[in-house]
Amino acid sequence: MIITLLSFKGGVGKTTTAVHLAAYLNAIAPTLLVDGDQNRSSLHWNERGNLPFKVCDEKEAVRFARSYEHIVIDTAAQPTKDELKAFINGCDLLILPTTADALSLGPTLEISKDMLRSGAQFKVLLTRVHPKPSDAGAEARALLNAVGLPVFDAEIRALRAFEHAAVQGVVVNQTKDKYRNIAWNCYKKIGEEICGKNEV
Ligand SMILES: Nc1ncnc2c1ncn2[C@@H]1O[C@H](COP(=O)(O)OP(=O)(O)OP(=O)(O)O)[C@@H](O)[C@H]1O
Ligand SMILES: [Mg+2]
Repeated sequence: MIITLLSFKGGVGKTTTAVHLAAYLNAIAPTLLVDGDQNRSSLHWNERGNLPFKVCDEKEAVRFARSYEHIVIDTAAQPTKDELKAFINGCDLLILPTTADALSLGPTLEISKDMLRSGAQFKVLLTRVHPKPSDAGAEARALLNAVGLPVFDAEIRALRAFEHAAVQGVVVNQTKDKYRNIAWNCYKKIGEEICGKNEV
């Protein structure tokens, strides 16, 4: 399966999601993470530490892709219309991470219109969601549902553990953060929604 992470707004969790979904998928079958962002955030994540799967840039990907069952593609924010079309054609599932604030939801609603028009396989993922008493996550979900967008049932909690993982160059369950298992379980649930239940 080829999964691409996409968003108009930056900093919504594309790279964090790419790394953790690649970790989930790699436990099932060999998985390649392709860093398609010139900032090279995924490649640098791997260089700071050691991720348990292969990470390469988009030029190397052509050669490596044939050896892997699953490919996760991290991209830069703000794709052009042409890039968007290529991303839609180039994968099996587009994931649109979005935070629950208006600044992120607005662009997500915009990009989703193109997805619906083109018949693309896509799903919105709520990230950096604060637990109750904050109701921002629930309100964002209601808004996305109201306009008919597909949204993952599970969502990614706002947890410092993810920042620690990025700094240390590891998957979040390899950090010493006390919330590491809660953080990992967020992505495990997303993996299960994509692939069905697996012992990962
Ligand atoms: N669930 C989360 N909880 C807390 N912090 C998070 C979470 N997900 C991501 N972050 C932090 O938010 C920042 C942006 O995340 P990330 O780099 O994954 O976003 P991005 O969409 O790839 O950004 P860019 O558009 O710049 O590539 C990082 O500092 C990251 O550690
Ligand atoms: Mg990124």
